Amino acid sequence: MKYSKIIGVGSYLPETILTNADLEKIVDTNDEWIFQRVGIRQRHIIGQSDDTVSTMTVNAARKALENSKLQANDIDLIIVCTSTHDYLFPSAACIVQRELGIDNNCPAFDLNAACAGFIYGLSVADQFIKNQTARNILIVGVDALTKTVDWQDRSTCVLFGDGAGAVVLQVSDEPGILATHIHAAGRYTDALSAKSLLWSSEPPSIHMKGNTVFKIAVTQLGNIVDQTLVKSGLQKSDIDWLIPHQANSRIIEATAKRLNLSMDRVILTVAEHGNTSAGSVPLALDYALKQGKIKHGEVLMLEAFGAGLAWGSVLVRY
Ligand code: ACO
Repeated sequence: MKYSKIIGVGSYLPETILTNADLEKIVDTNDEWIFQRVGIRQRHIIGQSDDTVSTMTVNAARKALENSKLQANDIDLIIVCTSTHDYLFPSAACIVQRELGIDNNCPAFDLNAACAGFIYGLSVADQFIKNQTARNILIVGVDALTKTVDWQDRSTCVLFGDGAGAVVLQVSDEPGILATHIHAAGRYTDALSAKSLLWSSEPPSIHMKGNTVFKIAVTQLGNIVDQTLVKSGLQKSDIDWLIPHQANSRIIEATAKRLNLSMDRVILTVAEHGNTSAGSVPLALDYALKQGKIKHGEVLMLEAFGAGLAWGSVLVRY
C-alpha cells in the first residue's frame, strides 16, 4: 500500500493590503459589520501590481519545490487548482512547468472546483500516487477573485483576497493522506456564480446568495468531517488541527464545534487574508508551519466549500 506525504509547502501573497477602513472609502460598509459577519480585517490584493494568477502560481510553487528539497525534474505531475487563471490556454500548470524548468514532459493540468479547488486537487493527486502513476506531485491552489468582483457591490467585494499556496506530495510507505472526500451539488449552481467575461457584456461580478451558501456550508462541512473520521477509523480527539477554507469565521467555528475542537486548534488566517478561494487552505497550512504550530506526526483536517456548490475534506498525518 502506498500513501501520499506532504514534503514541501510554499505560498505567495501580493504586497498590496486592502483594509476594511480602505473599503469604507469605496462602498457603504464598516469594519464592525465585516469583522462580525465574516471575521475579515484586511486582504492582500493584486490591485495595480504586475502580479497575475500565473505569477502567484509560480512564486508559491517555487517555494514549495525548494522546501521539498527535490529537483525540478523530480516532479512528475502538476495540478493547478484555480477558477481565475489569466489565460484560457495554456493552463497555469503548463506555465509553472516552464517557469520552474521542469522539462521532463510530465503531465500538467488545471482543475476548477472554485474555493474547494485545492481539496479536489489533493484528492486527485492522492489517487495518482496510490495507483503508482506518479511519485512527486506539485499542487497549487491559487485565485485572484478581486479581479472578478464588482467593487460597487458591498455584499461581495468585502469578502475576497488574492493569493496562492502550494504543496509537493511524495509517495511513501507510511501515511500521509489518511482519507479524502469530495462532493458537488450542481442543483445549487445559482447560489454562487461568476460569469466568464467572454460570455458577458456586463462588467465582472460575483453573484452569491450568501445565506443559502452559509447554511449549506455549515451542514455539509459538518457531515463531511464526520464521514472522514468514520472512513479513517479515527476519533474526534485524534484531530490535532483543523485547517479550514477561510471564507467566514462563523462557518469555521461551526465546523470546529462539530469536531469538539477548541478554536486554539484551528488555523485562522481569514482576518489577514480574506477569502482567497482555492489559495486559502494551502496558504493557511504554510502560515501554520511558519508559526511552528504543526509538528510532524500530527493529524490535520483540511476542508473547503465553494461554488458548484462543491466541497471536500482531506485528512492528513503531517
Ligand atoms: N457592509 C454593511 N452591510 C452589509 C454589507 C457590508 N459589506 N453587505 C451586506 N450588508 C447588509 C445587507 O444589505 C443586509 O441589510 P438589510 O438587512 O438592511 O437588508 C444585511 O447586511 C444582511 O445581509 P445578508 O446578506 O443577509 O448577511 P449575512 O448575515 O447572510 O452575511 C455573508 C453575508 C457574509 C456573505 C454570509 O452569508 C456568508 O458568509 N455566506 C457564505 C459565504 C461563503 O462561504 N462562500 C463560499 C466560498 S466563496 C466561493 O466559492 C467563490
